Amino acid sequence: MTHILAIETSCDETAAAVVVDGRQALSNRVASQIEMHRRFGGVFPEVASRQHVLAIQTVIRDALDEAGVVRVADVDAIAVTHGPGLAGSLLVGVNAAKGLAFAAGLPLIPVNHLEGHIYSNWIEAAGNPGAADDFPVLVLIVSGGHTELVLMTGHGEYRLLGSTLDDAAGEAFDKVARLLGLGYPGGPAIQKAATGVAPGRFSLPRPLMQSREHRFNFSYSGLKTAVLNLTRQLERDGIDPTDPATAAAIGAEFQAAAVEVLVEKSADAALEFGVRQVCICGGVSANRALRLAAQERFAGLGIPLRIPAFALCTDNAAMIGAAAYYRQQPRGLAAFYDLGVDVYASLPLA
Ligand code: KG4
Ligand code: ZN
Repeated sequence: MTHILAIETSCDETAAAVVVDGRQALSNRVASQIEMHRRFGGVFPEVASRQHVLAIQTVIRDALDEAGVVRVADVDAIAVTHGPGLAGSLLVGVNAAKGLAFAAGLPLIPVNHLEGHIYSNWIEAAGNPGAADDFPVLVLIVSGGHTELVLMTGHGEYRLLGSTLDDAAGEAFDKVARLLGLGYPGGPAIQKAATGVAPGRFSLPRPLMQSREHRFNFSYSGLKTAVLNLTRQLERDGIDPTDPATAAAIGAEFQAAAVEVLVEKSADAALEFGVRQVCICGGVSANRALRLAAQERFAGLGIPLRIPAFALCTDNAAMIGAAAYYRQQPRGLAAFYDLGVDVYASLPLA
């Protein structure tokens, strides 16, 4: 059995986990900075780095304790996110991981954050056996920084089918929530406001839905602008768009539009490439409307659908440990003793 201590600090969550054989999380600790960033209405990079510095030791110690690991040297390897993300945030995790690997004489496996999100689907959880090693797999990554359709033809083998041309889906949730006075982070806030509210009272576009040229691409900035124009029109008509009932109705329509495009483009790609499974991951995959719509759509198509347990949707370290396990597999841990790991603010999937 391979035990990996994984560390993730790419954005505003300081996270550490111990993962066995890429599938079993013995611990998965996350110190969230959400409260700290709420007053800025978004992540403030300088604040994020400093919070990582303050939190990281405790988070790692707690993850080891919960997993019953007494000494760092008792795990088989250290894994860490080296990009994409905020450089100052990534540096904190990478330096902590290097220090531990050096002191304990362990291999160090650098992991792409997006590959981490993909592998969140391989982690077993209550009622969720995790993805099967059955390819090709269509992956939809939907987070605050990414909206991508990826065809996975084997472990570590990716082909980018399409991505957002402008804003990420989660970013649109965050911006629209701000327009509607619903607070930060926007995804959970819109979901909460829209619960039990039918879409359709207002009408918003489904961007690029019919586009052949951009069949597997997304666009969310136009949808956000449509919400902005709608709120301005309402204000001109003497209606307050941040009034709870109005904000909920706009939020419900926005959520329906965002979800419909994600699900339909995924279904189109799944059929086009004859995939054996569909995996959805990233912070927005925590959205209940998206989960329900995707379950219904792929059940209808008879294609197995995986969506991680809620705690594994948003940023965490268990997913980094899972990805690291599959990344080292072809060559073995012995190939990972190089501590010259750098950080990359932007880093494409290998
Ligand atoms: O994966 P993640 O934690 O960080 C990135 O790598 O970006 O994703 C964060 C994003 C935020 O934009 C947040 O608003 C969104 O995921 N999010 C949601 C929900 N929970 C988090 N969006 C829609 N519905 C949710 N329930
Ligand atoms: Zn993420």
